[in-house]
Amino acid sequence: MIYTTFGIPATADSYHAVADRDQLLTLLQQHRTTAPPLFILGGGSNVIFSSHYHGTVIHLENKGIHLIGHDPENGDLLVQAAAGENWDSFVRHCIDNHWHGAENLAAIPGTVGAAPVQNVGAYGTEAKDIIHSVLAIDTVTGQERTFTNDECRFGYRDSIFKNQLKGRYIVWAVTFRLHPRFTPDLRYKGLADALEASGLNNPTARQMADLVTTVRWNKLPRPEETGSAGSFFKNPVVPAAQYLQLKQQYPGLVAHPAGDNYKLAAGWLIEQAGWKGRSLGHCGVYHKQALVLVNLGGCTGSEVVALADAITADIQSKFGVTLEKEAIIL
Ligand code: EPU
Repeated sequence: MIYTTFGIPATADSYHAVADRDQLLTLLQQHRTTAPPLFILGGGSNVIFSSHYHGTVIHLENKGIHLIGHDPENGDLLVQAAAGENWDSFVRHCIDNHWHGAENLAAIPGTVGAAPVQNVGAYGTEAKDIIHSVLAIDTVTGQERTFTNDECRFGYRDSIFKNQLKGRYIVWAVTFRLHPRFTPDLRYKGLADALEASGLNNPTARQMADLVTTVRWNKLPRPEETGSAGSFFKNPVVPAAQYLQLKQQYPGLVAHPAGDNYKLAAGWLIEQAGWKGRSLGHCGVYHKQALVLVNLGGCTGSEVVALADAITADIQSKFGVTLEKEAIIL
């Protein structure tokens, strides 16, 4: 069984599918005495095991989605979902129950537990916009801790769980702040355009999630057809001065303001550098979206690393911009 969406076979010293908290606590207790490296696997949509993993893999499979409360001040709904829930199923479940706000995040591969770790985002919405709090388990003490949205220190594809507290906590459940009324979020131009083209004037939440799903699969490879880790790189954030200089040199450069800085479209840079559709061994740059590396069949972890390194070096030398991986390579 392969548990990552890139579809590269890999092994680990030990693997445990965990569906209940006592089982997790027992495992953590055993782990404390031997302390091998520990990796928490969700949907495996953002991770590549490049060789045998010398450590323990814990695959979270806990389930459950519940309305746990209302905010009396504004009527917001608090919905808690277990980390092991499939993300898209969670989004659909919310829509079915008229709990709104997650529609633009439909069809993102992965699990609920992974969403806060890297603050997943698409089409104008980020997980941080709808996360109320995160219930996590301390790998050292086994105790629970609730992190408020602020305490999660969310950033672009970033959180405290990837940085200061990396490896210390396991996200066990996430509480979302959702709304009883649906309002379409059309800040992402491609989505607004797709809505106009569809002829729907007043989309329902379900129609909106369907539209997001269509827009997504027009550009990105479907995990069940082609192995990938979604965006392989983050969009690099550069100082305004560097952006202005690049923009002068490359008038077509795609970028968005990010505070005092600019976030460049890495897909544009990679395409301009001539990588779109190219391959190295069995690993390729997706022909519709250059930010995505794909498994062309029988791809190995070292081929992914070699292609990613070659692209990174080329973008550095052509544009003076450093690409950072979004995908985790172990
Ligand atoms: N572009 C190109 N060539 C390419 C790809 C993109 O020129 O090959 C240009 C497009 O013209 C577009 C711009 O780059 O104007 C941005 O492209 P797109 O809207 O497709 O978004 P992205 O910045 O490449 C990000 C996220 C995606 C998310 C989309 C939509 C990151 C790293 N990626 O991609 O997230 O779905 O926006 O919101 O931020 C993921 O993280 O795995 C992921 C798929």
